[in-house]
Amino acid sequence: MCCVRQTMIVMVMACRWLCIEALQFQYSSFAVGDEIDVVQQAWYSNESRPNAFKADGALWLTAFQNNSQNGASEADGTNVGRAVFREPVRFQVSNLSFSTSFSFQIITTRSYPNCGSGMAFFISNSREAPQNSDISGALGLMNPNQLTSSVTFFAVEFDTAKSKHYNDVSASHIGIDVNSLASLNVTDTAPGAGSTYYPDLFLYDNSSFTAWIEYNASSNLIQVWMLKYNRSLSAANSSTGGRNSLLVDRPLIPCLQLHYDLSSVLFGRDMYLGFSATTAPADRGMEGHVIYAWSFNNGFANSPSKRPTFRYILVASVLGMILCILVILYYIYMVKHRQNKSKHAHAARIEDALRSARPFSYRELERATNGFNEAMKVGEGGYGAVYKGVLRDGSIVAVKKLRMSTMLEDQFYAEARIIKKARHRYLLELQGWCYEEGQAALLVSQYMSRGSLDRYLFDGIRKRELGSSVMMQKETRIRILTQVAAALEYLHGGLGDCVLHRDVKAANVLLTEGEKMEARLGDFGLAKLISRDVGIVLMSAAGTPGYVAPEVLFNGMATEKADVYSFGVLTLEVVSGRRTISAISTPSDSEPGLAHLHLPYWLWSTLDLGGGIISDEQLCNVLDPILLPSLPQAEPASDYDHHLDGGGDRDFWDDWRCIVHLGLICCHPLPQCRPTMKEVSRAFDQRILLPLPLDSPCSLYPFPIHPEITSLGNIGHHSVSTIIPGAAITSSFSSSTNVTCPTPLLLSAAR
Ligand SMILES: *[C@@H]1O[C@H](CO)[C@@H](O)[C@H](O)[C@H]1NC(C)=O
Ligand SMILES: *[C@@H]1O[C@H](CO)[C@@H](O)[C@H](O)[C@H]1NC(C)=O
Ligand SMILES: *[C@@H]1O[C@H](CO)[C@@H](O)[C@H](O)[C@H]1NC(C)=O
Ligand SMILES: *[C@@H]1O[C@H](CO)[C@@H](O)[C@H](O)[C@H]1NC(C)=O
Ligand SMILES: *[C@@H]1O[C@H](CO)[C@@H](O)[C@H](O)[C@H]1NC(C)=O
Ligand SMILES: *[C@@H]1O[C@H](CO)[C@@H](O)[C@H](O)[C@H]1NC(C)=O
Ligand SMILES: *[C@@H]1O[C@H](CO)[C@@H](O)[C@H](O)[C@H]1NC(C)=O
Ligand SMILES: *[C@@H]1O[C@H](CO)[C@@H](O)[C@H](O)[C@H]1NC(C)=O
Repeated sequence: MCCVRQTMIVMVMACRWLCIEALQFQYSSFAVGDEIDVVQQAWYSNESRPNAFKADGALWLTAFQNNSQNGASEADGTNVGRAVFREPVRFQVSNLSFSTSFSFQIITTRSYPNCGSGMAFFISNSREAPQNSDISGALGLMNPNQLTSSVTFFAVEFDTAKSKHYNDVSASHIGIDVNSLASLNVTDTAPGAGSTYYPDLFLYDNSSFTAWIEYNASSNLIQVWMLKYNRSLSAANSSTGGRNSLLVDRPLIPCLQLHYDLSSVLFGRDMYLGFSATTAPADRGMEGHVIYAWSFNNGFANSPSKRPTFRYILVASVLGMILCILVILYYIYMVKHRQNKSKHAHAARIEDALRSARPFSYRELERATNGFNEAMKVGEGGYGAVYKGVLRDGSIVAVKKLRMSTMLEDQFYAEARIIKKARHRYLLELQGWCYEEGQAALLVSQYMSRGSLDRYLFDGIRKRELGSSVMMQKETRIRILTQVAAALEYLHGGLGDCVLHRDVKAANVLLTEGEKMEARLGDFGLAKLISRDVGIVLMSAAGTPGYVAPEVLFNGMATEKADVYSFGVLTLEVVSGRRTISAISTPSDSEPGLAHLHLPYWLWSTLDLGGGIISDEQLCNVLDPILLPSLPQAEPASDYDHHLDGGGDRDFWDDWRCIVHLGLICCHPLPQCRPTMKEVSRAFDQRILLPLPLDSPCSLYPFPIHPEITSLGNIGHHSVSTIIPGAAITSSFSSSTNVTCPTPLLLSAAR
């Protein structure tokens, strides 16, 4: 097997050598599966509105307003779009020459010179756009704040902004750049620049251009030709859309040239070829940059004509034969290997099935996260640490490294399959997983840079990000709850099997980018992925203190009603801005100090439920103060009620009342008195006010969760059992079924 591996390595190297030496490609349009990778570095503050993408055969580096793909607007911030040819290229010392041509369009939405900021063709050792390279006219090529940088590049810029920083001649120029954006030679194409030829290359009238760039290493000459696309030609040639013709003849005279020895830039490193563009809608106006076609050819100078030489064909066919033989040998080896291990035939079968289902390899994810680097860590939970990872195609993912268990591989995959099957708009999508022998199990999902709801809800400053006004706060919070409810309803009923979440909490509700935050419920089904007999995990597998339904504490058996309970707790947290278990000061006590509050119990026990409906004043006490409309300062206290009742925002209080009622009922100590998620969703949608029971069900909580119970203070670190006061309650709990439950009945009546 060892020699097989070596042979493989030799083959890969040979292939690489062959391909790279003769690197040439021609794209007359772009498609999702091709070798041009979009490397997104920044978005219009919304991940579903990508800044760079392929559409209709074109490669958009930065999209402009009119493009339906991203709905960008002039309010968006600066950002950079970048695309590279997937494989790095090695330029050899005796062979640095290259030529490339591409057709492109710059769409400017403001008149000269007020748009910005341009695009560039580059050859750089950095695949990604360096940090901050979207600002100060740096075109996504270098960090303008860094004096020395490890990024080296050669670029030809098509610049639509006049940056003082780089002594730009005008807001429409073409320049040759080496390791700096202060161009070494530049052609001014602005009107009035004085030349008869160049004004044709004015970058501000939405024209399409074709550009050719050549570097002749023997003469150290860089040349750039450029031609504005003639619209009357495009009409004649509608098959190509008229835009992407690389077939037009190159003009005789280059518009720009420079004698420069590029070997110091290109030689001996892995270099990436590509395009980069930036736009700053908010202060400079939208600018769209599109590439329609691109060809590249390395090594033209030495042998322009004889491309597929005999040698290539020979080498390729020999390699092909070796490959075939190896595949056969490997197959035989595997069959034998499997027969030897007939005992493990079952496991092997599963492994096989899984291999095809598993989109990620451990190494791939290890690379994506820099070897699970601490710097990439974005969170740590009961299930393990979460890392930010950048995959090879540039997409950003969250990689969860599960704290491993004694769980069997096939069980793991059975569970992972179920999770993978769950697809819902408000569920955090699992993109894949990986479980290789001897390694921690990994789950890969969407990366949500905004983080989880708890980061906002309980932070006096950050909670403002949930909405700038009382109405927006209300809208965001209710929207998040509605979406989580929809996701849970789907898990419980939409998949055939009922999948329990078992760990609904604010920390598992992730928020999307964009001013209109949406919820994505994460970590569902993970509880079962973790073996039950590892102490610390048991804790989180059972749920999180404060969110766990009382009955689960007793028999450990979770039903969907336990998820409903946790959802109720979440609802009360969202409404009140308090953690389910939090320290509160107790001014009413004779001895002041801190006590611990259990939110559902506290609300059930303090609210006066007379009439089954809580009053506006009670609402005022429950709601997070940031949610309350500010009252006129001078108004006397006696007008308080009047103020609340008056005015047109009756809906405001009714909506909140409905949500608070729902939260409370979901937190009912008896599972049979809680509504199902389906009923909850319905109540959310239609704002159905569920009446509360006339008596507080506090006494039905199977154990006294009360401010006096100080053991709750340790709950973050210790096992759940510390708050179970005794087994005696178990019986009373499970037999107390003769309680009237208002909720489900009422809902069915409402139908
Ligand atoms: C904007 O898009 C619409 C629909 O795709 C198209 O009809 C219209 O011509 C576009 N406008 C501009 C200014 O490109
Ligand atoms: C270029 O196209 C954009 C978007 O379609 C439009 O707003 C702008 O006015 C156009 N500019 C010129 C000079 O035609
Ligand atoms: C490159 O430059 C050398 C020396 O000036 C010249 O002989 C050769 O023809 C050039 N190659 C190309 C492809 O222009
Ligand atoms: C565009 O093409 C038409 C037809 O070939 C020609 O008459 C016209 O002069 C061309 N315009 C430019 C600017 O080259
Ligand atoms: C249209 O494109 C074809 C190749 O696709 C080319 O041969 C032909 O000359 C083009 N016609 C014009 C008018 O440019
Ligand atoms: C800059 O480019 C122009 C246009 O090709 C050329 O005439 C000029 O000599 C170049 N300047 C330098 C310093 O190479
Ligand atoms: C340069 O390119 C030519 C033609 O593709 C090739 O024969 C030669 O080996 C290359 N040189 C190096 C150093 O790769
Ligand atoms: C993000 O953009 C997409 C596409 O324009 C839009 O449908 C979605 O509502 C946006 N999301 C947010 C949170 O604004």
